[in-house]
Amino acid sequence: MFDPYKVREDFPILKRKINNHPLIYFDNAATSQKPRQVIEAVKEFYEKHNANVHRAVHTLSMEATELYEEAHEEAAKFIGAKSMEEIVFVRGTTEAINLVAYSWGLHNLKREDEVLATLMEHHSNIVPWEILSKIKGFKVKYVDVNLDGTLNYESLKEFLTPKVKLVCITHVSNVTGVINDVKTIAKLAHENGALVLVDGAQSVPHMPVNVQDLDCDFLAFSGHKMLGPTGIGVLYGKREILEKMEPFHGGGEMIREVSFNHETRRCKISWNELPWKFEAGTPDVCGAVGLTAAIRYLKALGMDNVKTHECDLTEYALKRLKECLKVTVYGPYDASLKCGIIPFNVEGFNSHDVALLLDSYGIMIRSGFHCAQPLHQKLRISSSARASFYIYNTREEVDRFVEALKEIEQTL
Ligand SMILES: Cc1ncc(COP(=O)(O)O)c(C=O)c1O
Repeated sequence: MFDPYKVREDFPILKRKINNHPLIYFDNAATSQKPRQVIEAVKEFYEKHNANVHRAVHTLSMEATELYEEAHEEAAKFIGAKSMEEIVFVRGTTEAINLVAYSWGLHNLKREDEVLATLMEHHSNIVPWEILSKIKGFKVKYVDVNLDGTLNYESLKEFLTPKVKLVCITHVSNVTGVINDVKTIAKLAHENGALVLVDGAQSVPHMPVNVQDLDCDFLAFSGHKMLGPTGIGVLYGKREILEKMEPFHGGGEMIREVSFNHETRRCKISWNELPWKFEAGTPDVCGAVGLTAAIRYLKALGMDNVKTHECDLTEYALKRLKECLKVTVYGPYDASLKCGIIPFNVEGFNSHDVALLLDSYGIMIRSGFHCAQPLHQKLRISSSARASFYIYNTREEVDRFVEALKEIEQTL
């Protein structure tokens, strides 16, 4: 049985009081808190195994290398990749998408091509494509979103012409929590000859994700949103695609050989095998160790249980928020269509003021446009407050959140 109260015991930070109230952490879409198991794995790495990887023959380096490679294996199994060669460690979702832009897009997209994104993308799945389109001359087009925050699948079909070479789609919106049917989208894209890049920043931490089932070509996600440390993330890519791609960064680690030709006075370089071809320089070994611990923690809970728990909390919160007469919630009211993210505004208050007032009750939420300005424009709002749940949140916390909002409503 999934028990959030038992889960909470593993999170030291949740024992904190903020402004004399027990901490309620509802900013999980921004980053998650870390369990003792992850904190200890990181500490143990530095206390017992710290060394650089893949470079030395001494014991510590062997141990660090083993842990680093094991992290790739663990991440591959977690998302159902065929092998660890398909798992590239990066700093996070942002870097993973930039890797695809510069290692694949720069070399494969032509002036007459199109990249299809959606109006609900996080800026990290918009900006790299807009920057690259200035260099290469291709067009970036945006699939429409309905006023309830769901994707407009008719608009997708309309935009999906043979000119489209890549579809960039978020699995779960970081603003509304809406889950997109990326399996169907991948099928449509492939029938049309396009590749599919899925932004999994808000899905991989919260629900079962299997890349072979989705049949996506790339999947990007961040360790820090799924109990792991900051600075580590994953780009999954189908092996046959990664093999044909050019490297992202150049440097040590990502080469097989650099040989100097005395006649031409040039260096001839051959690339390392996957996934190291994409991991130039000293990687975040400790972050990888922390990610392994995070994945193991989530696996022990069961991703189906994680999703069910968050769905239950979302349903409960959506129901209770109806008691707040000045609160407008955005996105669908059907919790089964979403992950645990609720954007809202309180009539008469700026979203930052709502966040500040909630902070005085010890409740941490996010405010602003959550790096998704086009979606806010579509929803005709300049900003929103956002509560987002995870495994350690409880119905009791939702109750305190709703009671605090009711008091805030009264202050105007
Ligand atoms: C949907 C989505 N994509 C991308 C990102 C960027 O993730 P990171 O900052 O870890 O690179 C986020 C972070 O909030 C996100 O929610």
